[in-house]
Order: sequence, then C-alpha cells, then structure tokens
Amino acid sequence: MKVMVPSLSAMPKTQSPHVLASDVTPISELLKRSLKRLRLFEPSVGVLGFLIVTLLVICGFFYLDYRAAARGLKFAGRSERFVWLQRSGSHEVKRVDFLGENGNSCDVFDGEWVWDDRNYPLYESRDCRFLDGGFRCKENGRPDLFYAKWRWQPKHCNLPRFNAKLMLEKLKDKRLVFVGDSIGRNQWESLLCMLSSAISNADSIYEVNGSPITKHKGFLVFKFKEFNCTVEYYRAPFLVLQSRPPAGSAEKIKTTLKLDQMDWTSLKWRTADILVFNTGHWWNYGKTTRSGCYFQEGSKVKMEMSIEQAYKRALETVFTWIDNDLDRTKTQVFFRTFAPVHFRGGDWRNGGTCHRETLPEIDPSLAPLETWSQFKIFNEVLSSSSSSSPWSRFRGTNLQVLNITGMSSRRKDGHASIYYLGPDVGPAPIHRQDCSHWCLPGVPDLWNELLYALFLKLEKEANHQHEKVQ
Ligand SMILES: *[C@@H]1O[C@H](CO)[C@@H](O)[C@H](O)[C@H]1NC(C)=O
Ligand SMILES: *[C@@H]1O[C@H](CO)[C@@H](O)[C@H](O)[C@H]1NC(C)=O
Repeated sequence: MKVMVPSLSAMPKTQSPHVLASDVTPISELLKRSLKRLRLFEPSVGVLGFLIVTLLVICGFFYLDYRAAARGLKFAGRSERFVWLQRSGSHEVKRVDFLGENGNSCDVFDGEWVWDDRNYPLYESRDCRFLDGGFRCKENGRPDLFYAKWRWQPKHCNLPRFNAKLMLEKLKDKRLVFVGDSIGRNQWESLLCMLSSAISNADSIYEVNGSPITKHKGFLVFKFKEFNCTVEYYRAPFLVLQSRPPAGSAEKIKTTLKLDQMDWTSLKWRTADILVFNTGHWWNYGKTTRSGCYFQEGSKVKMEMSIEQAYKRALETVFTWIDNDLDRTKTQVFFRTFAPVHFRGGDWRNGGTCHRETLPEIDPSLAPLETWSQFKIFNEVLSSSSSSSPWSRFRGTNLQVLNITGMSSRRKDGHASIYYLGPDVGPAPIHRQDCSHWCLPGVPDLWNELLYALFLKLEKEANHQHEKVQ
C-alpha cells in the first residue's frame, strides 16, 4: 500500500504535467530527515528529551498535513497500523502517457484521487461568470476548501494536463453540446469556466440569444467568438420525450414519457460535433408517477411499467438513435454515467446530510458501485445494445462512455451541501442539503479533464486512421 504526503518544502517550483504523481515525498523520507536532525542533539539530553522531540515532530506532521493525518487515522483502525510510516518510494509505478501509443489500453477511469494543491483548482468561481449561484460553494461560505484540490490519477497512465487553448483550437468551427439533467448542467458550467480561463476578452464569449445563465432556461448556447465554436446545454433530464398523454387518458395522467422517442430538442443537437449525454437522477418515483407522469410506448400508456423497466427502454432508444440517426463521421458521442449522490441519514426531502464531509473516501470498497442501480442498468443496456457491439475502445463506434460513477462515488466531500444559497443568504438549514450537485471548482472539473483526454485521444486516432488510408 502506498500512502504519501506532499512535502511543503521539497516540491520543485516548475514541473511537467507527467511527473505530478511522483512529486510527493513519502512520509518515511520526512521522518528520516527529522531523525538525522535529532542525531545532532547531545546524548545528555536523554531519552525523555528524545521522546518529547519525537512527539513534537509527529504532532508537527499531523498539523502540517491534514491529509496525512486523515489517512493515518483512517488506516490506524485497520490491521496495517501506521502503514503510512512504511517505505513507499521503492515501488513507484511507471506510468505511460495516455495520449501516447502505449496508453491505448489504459482505463483512465480506474485510479485514485491524489492531493494536488499546487495545480488545483483550475479556476476560482469568483473569476467565472458562467456559474449558477448554487455551485459557488466557497463564495457561499463553505469554510473547507480541500474538495477543490484533488486530482484524478489513473492507475496505469498519466492524463494530459488540461490546456484550454488547445481544446478551443480543436473545437474550432464546432459545436459541443451537453444534454441531460442539472448534473449535466453542473458539468457544462464547469467546462465553460475551464475554457474561458484562457480567454482574456470576456466580451468574446456570449450566449447567442442573450439569455442570462442564472435563468432556468431550456437551453443555452455560449459562443467563443475567437474560435467560432459553441458550448451548449440542453435540458432534457429523461433524454426521451415528455409530453401530453393520449386523448382520453385517465385524469391522473398529467404527462407521459414517450420511451420510444427522443426529446424534441434532439432536432437542435442532432448535428452537433460532440454530444455529452447524461440521465439518471430523474428516473425515480417522485419525478415520474407521483407527479402524474406515466410511461408510454407507441400509443399505449403502460400503467404497470416499473421505473427501472422504463429507464432501460429509454436508454435503448437513445443508443439506437445514436446508432441510426447520427452522422458517424461527424458526431462523437460521450455518455456520462450516473453521478452518485451522498445523502447520509435520509435523502434530499427528509434531512439527509453531507455537510460534514471534508475528505474523499480513500478506500474504494467503502463506496460500492452496487449502490447505484441506474449505473447497473446502464451497463446492462450498454453491453446488450447493438451500438456497443462489438465494443472496442476508440474504434468502430462513435459512442464513448464517460465512466465516472466509480471515481465520483468516493467524493462524498464534493457536494454543495448547505452552501448553495447566495453569499448574502448564508448556509441553508441543516435539513435542506444538496448532496447531489457538486461544488465548482470541484469534481466535475475532473470529469471534463477526462472528457478532454478522450477527446484528444479520439482525434489522434482519427488522424492516424486518416494517414493510413492516404
Ligand atoms: C463557424 O462554424 C460554423 C459551423 O459550426 C460554420 O458553418 C461557419 O462557416 C463558421 N464561420 C466562420 C466565419 O468560419
Ligand atoms: C466502468 O467502471 C466500472 C468500475 O468503476 C466497471 O465495473 C465498469 O465495467 C465500467 N464500464 C464501462 C462501460 O467501461
């Protein structure tokens, strides 16, 4: 097991993106250095003095590095007591570059969260005008800021460092479109902040219809004038069409979800260059049947259909649509998997909380994937769907899964909790928490870094194929 802490003094001032992982000094090193210093003491100081100094040094570690302390405490309760004191530098993993040829087999979603307060956050919320007030946790009074300083490190490769200019250049004359629920909006706003950080002229980024971002609009289209590209968001929480029930339906049926038809806005984004889908959070009793929204196939309302069944049908419709209705040579599709929620002791309606969480779950087994039925269903449909078969990464398909459920399930510390009201209002009541949306800067930035990496990888792959053909 490898547990490392960032050393405050030993970090070089400049570094290339690919050495980030090794830029941490094992705590054993720190201890050794301290012990060396201790040898300078006269023996007459005696055992007592040594003990006191040792204690002070150890306390110093705890004080100096919050994470080290947390990890130490976390592991102390398990069989490998004080594992953080063990040597760890010797079994450094050699990682390849994801964008390099050897990176092809790397699963970028398999990895761990690494403390990196030198390079993160990628932006400050006060500098980004594209954020809903509800995501501005720091400005809304959240006192701990650790949540914005973790980097995602794949186990077997290194990701490229996010480069906004490069991404914008690759997006030239293109449309990048997010479609889904408000967590999709969360991710879209994150990307707007990440991209706009490279643009000095604020007026050159604008909503094409003049709509303000704070208004709850059906869709918003932001243009980066210099690059003639747009980064768009369409609200379609079910992805399939929600509309009026057939004539003569029972009165309790207020609306129906047409499980075999795409949302009407698909007409607007069908020709996008890059699509980023998500759906999941609205597939529950409260948002469907209890609100008078039933499921429909063809002209039939299926009163008995379960939500899981309906969700499955809807996903099949989306995958089939991706397969049949999109121009494969033009549109690249990313499907973001379910974003976990972290309500403890209830859900959002009855007092569930997450406001005390300040650290990620270091141990992945404490954040089991089986918790998320939406994720399970998604994987089932994906593996049986024709659009993914034969499934092969980066080849033969324009559908790429942004498989963020596992990594995000360890980030119970990343949610807005009680810090979603404006700075003047102050924290929300303890029993009204938001443990589903994420603070920005925060976890969705890392989803977008993965999106960026995959986007560049696919581009490279496409160019490579092109060269081969010529
Ligand atoms: C901007 O991009 C669009 C495609 O999204 C293209 O049709 C149009 O010609 C481009 N405009 C310029 C000035 O290059
Ligand atoms: C997504 O990742 C999980 C582990 O986090 C894995 O079990 C699952 O098979 C992955 N799904 C896809 C489509 O890559």
